[in-house]
Amino acid sequence: MQQLYGAGIDISKPQGNMVVDIGGGTTDVAVISLGGSVVSTSLKVAGDKFDEAVVKYIKRKHNVIIGERTAEDLKINIGCVYPKIQDVEMDIRGRDLGTGLPKTITIHSSEMLEALIEPAMMVVDAVHSVLEKTPPELIADISNKGIYMTGGGSLVDGLDKLLQEKTGINVMIANDAVSCVALGTGKALDNLDVLDKRKRK
Ligand SMILES: Nc1ncnc2c1ncn2[C@@H]1O[C@H](COP(=O)(O)OP(=O)(O)OP(=O)(O)O)[C@@H](O)[C@H]1O
Ligand SMILES: [Mg+2]
Repeated sequence: MQQLYGAGIDISKPQGNMVVDIGGGTTDVAVISLGGSVVSTSLKVAGDKFDEAVVKYIKRKHNVIIGERTAEDLKINIGCVYPKIQDVEMDIRGRDLGTGLPKTITIHSSEMLEALIEPAMMVVDAVHSVLEKTPPELIADISNKGIYMTGGGSLVDGLDKLLQEKTGINVMIANDAVSCVALGTGKALDNLDVLDKRKRK
């Protein structure tokens, strides 16, 4: 719930808000109204699974093993789940499975799309399933206000576009998606600080 304060969403009103928080290990999809979650789901498909998909793809397509940090670099720098207007590429080093020796290969963003579309569609499907269970009056609110995406995983290029295309609902990435949770927690911590000062007096 903390991330919602960070994202600047007012959940105290009787209107529905949909929030999709894509973290490292978990994606949380929730429709929230009056401070409580009305419908929600959680899946173990988030940033880490995107990285794993890249590792698997490069192994299959190039016969090269890369580490998860390299996969994350690729995801952040040239990753996409929606075709980019212009293809971009990145050189990476891994171990050639044939020779066992280091090898440098060039990866294109179009390949990242192939690698990442499967986990991305799992997130889209989870959003669909939550929308299906959402009461009609709240669906109206959500389609008016849009879907909020937050968490570092939401920054994969084109994920907002893909979700928007598949749901027909406007998708917004919360400003500071990565620090939203920290911001929310920060606000809670400010209050703790007040309590703490009181104690010390
Ligand atoms: N610019 C970026 N593009 C794509 N992915 C990114 C970007 N920046 C961060 N990430 C990914 O975001 C993920 C971490 O997100 P976040 O910090 O929200 O997770 P978390 O809150 O620690 O995890 P969880 O919510 O699962 O406990 C990592 O998988 C990271 O690779
Ligand atoms: Mg998180």
